[in-house]
Amino acid sequence: TRPIGVAVLGMGNVGTEVVRILTDNAHDLRARVGAPVELRGVSVRDLSRPRGGIASSLLTDDPLSLVTRDDVDIVVELIGGIEPPRTLIRTALQAGKSVVTANKALMAVHSGELSEAAATSNVDLYFEAAVAGAIPVIRPLTQSLAGDHVNRVAGIVNGTTNFILSAMDETGADYADALAEAGRLGYAEADPTADVEGHDAAAKAAILASIAFHSRVVAGDVYCEGITKITSEDLAAAKKFDCTVKLLAICERIDADGVEKVSARVYPALVPLDHPLATVNGAFNAVVVEAENAGRLMFYGQGAGGDPTASAVLGDLVMAARNRVYSGRGPLESTYASLPIASIDDV
Ligand code: HSE
Repeated sequence: TRPIGVAVLGMGNVGTEVVRILTDNAHDLRARVGAPVELRGVSVRDLSRPRGGIASSLLTDDPLSLVTRDDVDIVVELIGGIEPPRTLIRTALQAGKSVVTANKALMAVHSGELSEAAATSNVDLYFEAAVAGAIPVIRPLTQSLAGDHVNRVAGIVNGTTNFILSAMDETGADYADALAEAGRLGYAEADPTADVEGHDAAAKAAILASIAFHSRVVAGDVYCEGITKITSEDLAAAKKFDCTVKLLAICERIDADGVEKVSARVYPALVPLDHPLATVNGAFNAVVVEAENAGRLMFYGQGAGGDPTASAVLGDLVMAARNRVYSGRGPLESTYASLPIASIDDV
């Protein structure tokens, strides 16, 4: 069988682990895909930095020529941020490559145009790793629950802020120390402002609301408050009321004066200690889905970090590769029938 060629863009925490798994698990991946999965190249920003364990002939600082190569079938985008990923992904899709991305900031704003480009070229665009790291939540919402009616998706979707709040709660740790530790452990974004100001969670909320409610919700639609004003005193006060503080992302259908709207919002909230979300600590994430027929489902696991996020990337990669081998393909999400977006005053 013809091998499936893969290009990896970006070698940060996640990219490094994806390349490692592709190499270490080549045998298993071949069996699961039905064809060898071969790494064609890896793009990095700085070619002079040492990259242990990867042949220098595979490295390039020219991602654009990598994504259009004839022997590349699937592009894995792990650079992060809007540009150059937006142009690279669009170019790859237009060139008939399937794309796997972990880029929540990009998917929270440009998923519409990119999904259309994927549909036009009849290729896959998968983004499980963009929300809640290792936890399968995109696939359940788009596939397993495709025949149900989802009313609410809510939970803890940022590992860094949950790590900080948990440390402040459990040991009375200082905010700045806990943030530095989250960065050291590879949970925080390159610029942790996106984590602590709630923007990372808001991007994930936009993606979840879009797929759960078949609507186009972008990051700017999400009401957003971060955790920068939360103090150890706040956590101690919450405890007196048998509560803790969690940064929650809440996406739901609401009735705003007789009009059905989608509301998506992120803010630190008091959570009663006997609520399942109160026990989600450290960099763990949890997402609770409420659907009309399925009832309540809870997804829990590691929401940040290189290995867990790489697991979700590899899952998407195997699915996209199998689709290539067996010629099965189709958009991840059905046509959007957008609901109006609620303002915070509607809630
Ligand atoms: N910075 C993100 C987090 C990484 O802390 O959750 C995973 O998206």
